[in-house]
Amino acid sequence: MIDPKFVHDTFSAIAGRYGTVNHLLSLGTDILWRARALQIIADWRPSKLLDAATGTGDLALDIQRELPEVHVLGLDFCEPMLAMARQRGLLHTLHADAMHMPLEDAAFDALTIAFGLRNLPDYAAALREFRRVLRPGGHLLVLDFSLPDGFARAPYRLYLHQVLPHLAAWLTGQRSAYDYLGQSIEQFPRGTAMLDLLGQAGFACPTHLPLCGGIASIYTAKA
Ligand SMILES: C[S@@+](CC[C@H](N)C(=O)[O-])C[C@H]1O[C@@H](n2cnc3c(N)ncnc32)[C@H](O)[C@@H]1O
Repeated sequence: MIDPKFVHDTFSAIAGRYGTVNHLLSLGTDILWRARALQIIADWRPSKLLDAATGTGDLALDIQRELPEVHVLGLDFCEPMLAMARQRGLLHTLHADAMHMPLEDAAFDALTIAFGLRNLPDYAAALREFRRVLRPGGHLLVLDFSLPDGFARAPYRLYLHQVLPHLAAWLTGQRSAYDYLGQSIEQFPRGTAMLDLLGQAGFACPTHLPLCGGIASIYTAKA
C-alpha cells in the first residue's frame, strides 16, 4: 500500500540528488527510456501536454527542449522536486496532487507520467483522473519500471532488493527510499495487467512496449 505522506517526505529528502543518483543506479538507461518516450510523443504532435509527477522535470524538460511548439506543464505535489525542475529551466509548473488535479476537463492533448504512477495510492483512480483532463482522443504515456520475464528476473530481483538499496544508501543516506523502490516495483501492475487497468479506466487502444528486456515499460492509450 502506497503511503502518500511517506512518498512526499521521501522525495523531499532526496530532491537535490535525485537525478544524479537515478542516472548512476540505472547506468544511464533511464535517459534512453525517456528518449524513446520522446519519439512517441513527437509523433502525436500535441499542443498542450501535462507531465504528471514531473519531479525534477527530466521528461518535461526533454519535451520542452525538443518540441518547443508544445506547451508543457509539469505537475508535482513535492515542492522541493518542483523547485529543482524550475531551477533546471522548466517554464510551467503546478504544485498539486495528481490524484485531484485543479485542472479543467479535456484541457490537454497529451499526458505523460514517468516513474510516477507507481507512487500514487490508487492506480485506477489516478488513470480516471488523467482521462478526465485529456480531450477525447488525447494521448496517455506511462513510463515506469516493470519486472523482466524469464531468466533475467531472478538476477534483476537480486540487484533490486539486495544491491541497489545499499548503493543508494551510500549515495544518498536514504536507504528507506530505495527499499520502497523495490517494493513499489513488485506491486505495480505490468504487461497485460496494466493494459487491463487502462481499459477499465476508460482508455482505448492500450499498447505495451517493454524496454531493456522488461526492466521498464512504456504504455500508451487514447482517452
Ligand atoms: C520517481 S519520481 C519521478 C519524477 C520524474 N517524472 C522522472 O521521470 O524522473 C516520482 C515523483 O512523483 C511525485 N508524486 C508522488 N505522488 C504524487 C502525487 N500524489 N501527486 C503529485 N506528484 C506525486 C513525487 O513527488 C516525485 O517527484
